Amino acid sequence: MGRPARRAVRDLVPSLIKKEEIDLVVANAENASGGMGVDIKSAKELLSAGVQVLTSGNHIWRKKEIYSFLDDQDKLLRPANFPTGAPGKGWCLWQQNGYSALVINLQGRVFMPNHVDDPFRCVDEILRQQGRHSRVVIVDMHAEATSEKNAMGWYLDGRASIVYGTHTHVQTADERILPGGTAYITDVGMCGPLDSVIGMEKETVIKGFLTQLPRQFEVAEENVALQGVVVDVDADAGKAREIRRLRVHWEANH
Ligand SMILES: [Fe+2]
Repeated sequence: MGRPARRAVRDLVPSLIKKEEIDLVVANAENASGGMGVDIKSAKELLSAGVQVLTSGNHIWRKKEIYSFLDDQDKLLRPANFPTGAPGKGWCLWQQNGYSALVINLQGRVFMPNHVDDPFRCVDEILRQQGRHSRVVIVDMHAEATSEKNAMGWYLDGRASIVYGTHTHVQTADERILPGGTAYITDVGMCGPLDSVIGMEKETVIKGFLTQLPRQFEVAEENVALQGVVVDVDADAGKAREIRRLRVHWEANH
């Protein structure tokens, strides 16, 4: 969520990589610029901080300059189930030090603003075409409804290594390994200011609820934390061994 979160990522991710012995960092960047959308500068900033794959969601189309960036590289994804013809792509094959992972970005349809294609059949098709390239499969299910994210976790149990939700910005406490070996959490939470309404200045959001008038939201700055999960995956089997929630507080002069 905006600049404070980008700075937190820059300050915290390199040491987390070392401390937790992390091979691959994936982050959803759809609100990295001003709390809505992502521009090229912010995407590059996150990529140089140690994040190797960026996923996104419904806000990816906010900054027009990102359209060509989505086409030009494969480190920033948009949801795979946008209709044919949308810029960019919804999956990538990450490879490093003999490891590989197929990273897939999906968007839900329940209570979401876009009429995207069916994410379930979409992920089936990606796995059918690309699944042979990697045993490790990581799925960012960007969706509002807990039920739709829950359903995707079970749908992919045994076929994906990790299925995690994004979009609501509120971290859920339901992380677990499903019986087929898929690590699952309904929402990983945001990297952003916790003294806020899902990252935005709370006073403005409350006024919006009270008056029902349109408002310009600004990213809040207080009490910034990096949230997510650390997952240990057996690279040969593609099965998860452990999933752990992460919430690391960040100080501006860190
Ligand atoms: Fe979103």
